Amino acid sequence: MDRTSHRRRRTAGLIAGAVAAVTALTAGVLTAPAASADATLGQLAAAKGRYFGSATDNPTLSDVPYQQILGSEFGQITVGNTMKWMYTEPTQGQFDYTQAEAIVDRAEANDQLVRGHTLVWHNQLPGWVSNVPADRLLGVMRDHITNEVAHFKGRLIHWDVVNEAFEENGSRRQSVFQQKIGDGYIAEAFKAARAADPNVKLYYNDYNIEGVNAKSDAVYNMVKSFKQQGVPIDGVGLQAHLIVGQVPATLQQNIQRFADLGVDVAITELDIRMDLPRTTAKDTQQAEDYGKVVRACLAVSRCVGMTIWDFADHHSWIPSVFPGQGAALLYDENFGKKPAYYAVAAALGGTSSPSPSPSPSPSPSPGGDGCTASYKVTSQWQNGFTADVTVRNSGTAAIDGWTVTWTFPDGQRISNLWNGDLTADGSSVTVRNVGYNGRLGAGASTSFGFQGSYTSSNGTPTGIACAAA
Ligand code: G3I
Repeated sequence: MDRTSHRRRRTAGLIAGAVAAVTALTAGVLTAPAASADATLGQLAAAKGRYFGSATDNPTLSDVPYQQILGSEFGQITVGNTMKWMYTEPTQGQFDYTQAEAIVDRAEANDQLVRGHTLVWHNQLPGWVSNVPADRLLGVMRDHITNEVAHFKGRLIHWDVVNEAFEENGSRRQSVFQQKIGDGYIAEAFKAARAADPNVKLYYNDYNIEGVNAKSDAVYNMVKSFKQQGVPIDGVGLQAHLIVGQVPATLQQNIQRFADLGVDVAITELDIRMDLPRTTAKDTQQAEDYGKVVRACLAVSRCVGMTIWDFADHHSWIPSVFPGQGAALLYDENFGKKPAYYAVAAALGGTSSPSPSPSPSPSPSPGGDGCTASYKVTSQWQNGFTADVTVRNSGTAAIDGWTVTWTFPDGQRISNLWNGDLTADGSSVTVRNVGYNGRLGAGASTSFGFQGSYTSSNGTPTGIACAAA
């Protein structure tokens, strides 16, 4: 069997598994295995018959710590840019899937589902498309869809066939496709996609259609008429580029009304931005907001999964488009998990704070000072590594702060540390809590992490100890 057919068989198996889980859930029978306390977001979602994924873009392919998280934490990947028309058919009739393939290959190696994004969009279009005469654009659009969908046939779970075709008031966006082909272009796009791959699920995808409003009404009416006319649409993607404190109150109701039309719904590009800088209050509100979105999806059996629009704040599109705003994702710039991460995990049925490290070495420090610390290397490559340290309040009363100390035996050095305040003196390391993770109730835990370097060996620290404030 060649490499492609092997991949296709494996992806078909993954898709079948996901579909089976969702089908079982629809029937009220949850067959997926229960998730353990320290499961990843992808595992937690899978236990609910859903996927939880992240978008990603090609510049991150060589970023080892980023890829380590992307490849392990998420059950699904969306190709954030390089399946778009400007990358895949930059010159008419010359198709290039090199960049998109690089992400799909990696996702398949990690057994992750892949959403295709996007076939027909007014943005990131190569210039030549706008110059196609009106009487030829329908054919050009069909050719593009046919080629790209056929190319990835068997490897994707969904395609965002048409993206962002409506204005806020519910009228059609005056894109080149709308102007030159007319209202029928969306239905024609779906028909072309179905002809090229009868199995991949075909989605209409848009922003500001998360709640019930004029724009989502327009999409609703389109989907309803497509279903009546037999136009092959399988799902609606709610992008969910949201603002802290402003999750639409009608989110679940809106998901439900689309589901009632007989289509699936996916949260496709979730991020929740705030005015910078971050504060504890904004982080707390953001965590609540993420939890609300996840719970709304889980409440509707046809809401099949959720995707965040990349996972770490320094890879977000927000600051470049909304100056002064950002911090919209689940991980910070140092890949530290934010309160929003734990809120998503909790909403998916996991623990709401990091669980103690399973690593036995070294043993947790004695709890005489009211806290313990356990250290775990989470990934290691030539001369580099990442590690997590879990801090647990081992006493019977709440503590208001903690300090963890240890000594590296092999000259290791920390290059960046998250969720803690680092003081290093040669091999001696001291880490204190930061503002939002100092207070721990009795038995509660939190964690910090870091990236470090080593030379010949990376031995376990000695003298690890935790002191409560
Ligand atoms: O690749 C070039 C690079 O060579 C160049 O140096 C750099 C200089 O600006 O630009 C790079 O291209 C950028 C591209 O992302 C890849 O990083 C473009 O300028 C930039 O405009 C483009 O932005 C993308 C945006 O879509 C375009 O509208 C974002 O990354 C992408 O996250 C965003 O995604 C969209 C969804 O597709 C649809 N829904 C909204 C969402 C957010 O805008």
